[in-house]
Amino acid sequence: MRQLEDRKIVVASHNKGKLAEFADLIAPFGFEAKSAADYGLPEPEETGMTFEENAYIKALAAASATGLPALSDDSGLMVDALDGAPGVYTADWATLEDGTRDFAMAMRVTEEKMAEKGALANDRRTGRFVSVICLAWPDGHAEYFRGEIDGHLVWPPRGEKGFGYDPMFQPEGFDVTFGEMNADEKHGWKPGDATALSHRARAFQKFARAMLGSA
Ligand code: IMP
Repeated sequence: MRQLEDRKIVVASHNKGKLAEFADLIAPFGFEAKSAADYGLPEPEETGMTFEENAYIKALAAASATGLPALSDDSGLMVDALDGAPGVYTADWATLEDGTRDFAMAMRVTEEKMAEKGALANDRRTGRFVSVICLAWPDGHAEYFRGEIDGHLVWPPRGEKGFGYDPMFQPEGFDVTFGEMNADEKHGWKPGDATALSHRARAFQKFARAMLGSA
């Protein structure tokens, strides 16, 4: 596995929720981590069919443009009753014609589709969040780290914290949604801890162990 030579990377995202989470997760490692937005980079089109493909598109675009290793995350919600949808299209379900995003609407659409499938009882409302982190270098080399968290889709959504579909997702073993957790509770991890909670923190934990010498 190729190692990072300098503690300087670009976080290849324009998503404020993800950027805030990466800033938290990376802070203990003393990195200089500017975002793609800080560099004024455009958002590449996500034309891949998998989380890995889309994560690579984003990381490579930022690495090529800046000459620095770039860390991206492609993530999404997979609902069992919807055969894994919205999956790689999770952000698209929230995107309006003018390009802005409306997650209250996206959660409502998810609920309507689950109701159409008759997925109203708790045992039919299972799903998971998936995050694939990609670290790509300007020469095209890439490493991947995947994290997943199982849970239930609740209705109505609960909580004002977090971002995206957080208010609709209750992780396994908890009676609160990600939208009701503060950032530390949702990550469920700091360097040295054995386990992480959120999909992104689980993927980041693998990245930190492989690339940052974390315990
Ligand atoms: P993408 O990775 O840019 O394609 O977007 C993934 C989408 O999945 C985001 O826009 C969010 O709506 C959703 N998502 C990913 N991770 C989370 C999370 O931790 N909480 C809530 N929604 C998430």
